[in-house]
Amino acid sequence: MSNFFEVSTFRQHLSTQWLGQDIRYFETLPSTNTYSKKVKNNEVNHGTLVITDDQTAGRGQYDRSWQGEKGQNLTFSIILRPQNREGFHALTLSCALVLVELLNSIVNHNCACIKWPNDVLLNEKKVAGLLTETVYLGNSLARLIIGIGFNVNQQNFRKDLVSTATSVRLEKGEPVSREILLADLLSRIEYKYRLWQQKQTKLLRRINRNIQGYGRWVTLQVDGKLLSDHYKLIGINETGRLLVLNKEGGLQSYAYEQIRIITD
Ligand code: BTN
Repeated sequence: MSNFFEVSTFRQHLSTQWLGQDIRYFETLPSTNTYSKKVKNNEVNHGTLVITDDQTAGRGQYDRSWQGEKGQNLTFSIILRPQNREGFHALTLSCALVLVELLNSIVNHNCACIKWPNDVLLNEKKVAGLLTETVYLGNSLARLIIGIGFNVNQQNFRKDLVSTATSVRLEKGEPVSREILLADLLSRIEYKYRLWQQKQTKLLRRINRNIQGYGRWVTLQVDGKLLSDHYKLIGINETGRLLVLNKEGGLQSYAYEQIRIITD
């Protein structure tokens, strides 16, 4: 069985209106996000999908790298031209929520959650990571790029990752079609994108309920510093700030980038 992503199978299953209809598949590419950032503005559309089987210089958050076994996973970026000029964190979290809901439906109910800010855990191990980037032309946003690395059929992880990383195949116990999975994922993202555009509060509620530690007392790291108190995790508000309650019952909010959440 070839390990190349089959674009024709993917297309057969894709039922979106605009997301992923324009697909750029590469056998190999340094990074789908870097490609999506560098490509000329008039060469891509709202909803263009950039995907590779072999990403050789994948990038993660906090200058980390993202690596995966060739031909086993989903390594892709979606290019968006949102009309809203804010709330991108909620959009990234909406994509993370889509991954959580998909995993809960195909592996096990309640097996997945969002690990703040941009990771998705499956049975408490990392199964996916997201990296959102922007391209500006002058002062205006030319495009938003959401890059997703999703461990699908990979069975072996580097020694230092074995205890913290997993894949759908490892947790489900059988291989999955990457083409069908991605087609499903994109239609769910397209739907959530609409909710995000409409600023639906039910979307925020759903995101929040699926963040690891939601409603519990957690430890926070703010701008790299560990706080000694515990805070009750409430979730994001409509501007994408993270809300927590302190021990006195006071509401505090933090910018998305400032915070790391440590759950016990
Ligand atoms: C993280 O866990 O820190 C985020 C990882 C994001 C990886 C994806 S893979 C597709 C896209 N291209 C990249 O270079 N990075 C993202």
